[in-house]
Amino acid sequence: MKNLIVISHPLVKRDLTLLRNEKTPNNQFRSILRRTSTLMAYEVTRKLPLKEISVNTPLEKTKGNVVAKSVVLVPILRAGLGLVGGFVEVIPDARVGHIGLYRDEETLRPVDYYFKVPRNLKQALVLVLDPMLATGGSGAAAISYLKQKGAKSIIYVSLVAAPEGVRKIVKDHPDVIIYTCALDRELNSKGYILPGLGDAGDRIFGTE
Ligand code: PRP
Ligand code: URA
Repeated sequence: MKNLIVISHPLVKRDLTLLRNEKTPNNQFRSILRRTSTLMAYEVTRKLPLKEISVNTPLEKTKGNVVAKSVVLVPILRAGLGLVGGFVEVIPDARVGHIGLYRDEETLRPVDYYFKVPRNLKQALVLVLDPMLATGGSGAAAISYLKQKGAKSIIYVSLVAAPEGVRKIVKDHPDVIIYTCALDRELNSKGYILPGLGDAGDRIFGTE
């Protein structure tokens, strides 16, 4: 699908299988998701621009690199928090914003309750983190908000995506690239991804 990149690393596939398993308890779900998010961060940041610098090794001076673009992570609460740790591990100087959205269970429309993002989004690469891309309502709303705040370069990072959600993001935000670890089959009548992994927020935080 247009603008969609599926991460197919074997270790990601192994972890996603563990995350899908209904028998995986909350504590393991959380730590596996963190590990997977490190691998996802590695794939998502492949094209980060670099600046050349010089560095003194114990033996001589040589050329090295620093990352030339600031990175802002924006998890969508709550489930997006499950991806932050792994991304921060590999991008330790990333700044982190938060967007609070939940889906109304009847209408499936996103309801917003919290926004706090760093300044100077215009120059940054903004990575929106949310494990589940279902109808795409939450993701599209989060991206619109970030654009209002000046973001110009946005990547949407999900663990599992439904075709409906990908279509929604592509339609509303054709400039945004979506990464996911699996493009699943469809949504059920309650807006859950099939086969999916259930309610990600509940599984991370033990609220089911
Ligand atoms: C889940 C998920 C996404 C949203 C996806 O959040 O984490 O944010 O649903 O659905 P959509 O693509 O149809 O908008 P939820 O509303 O369950 O809130 P939570 O993370 O606080 O559990
Ligand atoms: N949110 C989730 O946590 N899981 C789904 O399958 C859909 C939306």
